Amino acid sequence: MQIDELKEAFEKLYGKGDCHVYFSPGRVNLIGEHTDYNGGFVFPCALSFGTYCLIRKTNNDYIQLRSLNQDKTYKLGIDELTQPLEKGNWANYVLGVIAQFIKESLIPTCGADILFWGNVPNGAGLSSSASLEVVTGVAINEEYNFDKDQLSIVKYSQMAEHEFAGVMCGIMDQFASGMGKKNHAIYLNCENLEYELVPVNLEGVKIVIGNTNSPHSLDEGKYNERVAECRAAVEAINPSKKIANLGELCPTEFNSLANHIKNEVIRRRARHVVTEIERTQKAVIELKKGNLTAFGQLMNGSHDSLRDDYEVTGYELDCMVEAARKIEGTIGARMTGGGFGGSTVSLVKDEYVEEFIHKVGIEYTEKTGIVGEFYVAEIGDGGKRIE
Ligand code: GLA
Repeated sequence: MQIDELKEAFEKLYGKGDCHVYFSPGRVNLIGEHTDYNGGFVFPCALSFGTYCLIRKTNNDYIQLRSLNQDKTYKLGIDELTQPLEKGNWANYVLGVIAQFIKESLIPTCGADILFWGNVPNGAGLSSSASLEVVTGVAINEEYNFDKDQLSIVKYSQMAEHEFAGVMCGIMDQFASGMGKKNHAIYLNCENLEYELVPVNLEGVKIVIGNTNSPHSLDEGKYNERVAECRAAVEAINPSKKIANLGELCPTEFNSLANHIKNEVIRRRARHVVTEIERTQKAVIELKKGNLTAFGQLMNGSHDSLRDDYEVTGYELDCMVEAARKIEGTIGARMTGGGFGGSTVSLVKDEYVEEFIHKVGIEYTEKTGIVGEFYVAEIGDGGKRIE
């Protein structure tokens, strides 16, 4: 949908007059998976698709929320904005963010009519929910002159996910959606939120996203289970070495401590985290050197570790990655995001992109009975007002 069409839809719904338009992107993570909530490194980029928010302040004492991707309109009094609706309701992502402002006594002084529309496929592991949260935060902040910085909005968005969706996520998705920059990936240290924007100049190579169309749902508990398993690993190591997060250990140090983790599953979870952090650090060095072959190998290693040690890939993601690696022009392929379904990310040489999409699509459907979708990623900017 074009912005003009969105404005038309807004006026049809809420009446003629001006409105402001905000946008916040989804993200694709190049490498560094399930490391963020362990104080490790991630390397995501913001996409050119995401969620739009059209907003007009009113003299009413209620806020109206509507999404063109969903059917229900919500009309909520300003005093009703801090309570989540029923589990799974999309409006919880919006309310969860507004509730964070209110917690800091930043209370909307008047009503607003709000319309959302997003083109990040839901459940594709490309952070549709983070893009909705961040666009809400950016819009509310600016419309009501709350004067919070972008990092606060990123943190509010993460809290919305914890408190209103029950997913104890790390900060990667919201950070990428809020702080992304066109043609750059974000090398983020989740321990202290220091970050570097690294130019992504992939001469002759494209980032191809493959949506398995096997939706993941992180609120089904598997994600939180992994978070808890990592905490259990920290607990097991603590009597021998005091750490707050697995991210404090390099693989060598981890190997010398691993025998303290008696549970074999927990040990593998922790091994994924520490090796993934190291892969991410190496991948950034290789990208800066322009060594895409090495970068691709690290992506492959990431997927294999997520499959074997962390066990978050599943049949569909594995099939797609396997098919992707058979294409001659594929430099690296892995799952991206939380896993359990969702999307893959591959680096593919320009001249092979068409063949990649065709052949991977066929093999994937043959094996799973599902039709996948492919997008050549464009790296965009983080959340902001666009009109
Ligand atoms: C989800 C979470 C992120 C991160 C990834 C896995 O996308 O929201 O915080 O943990 O999974 O890397």
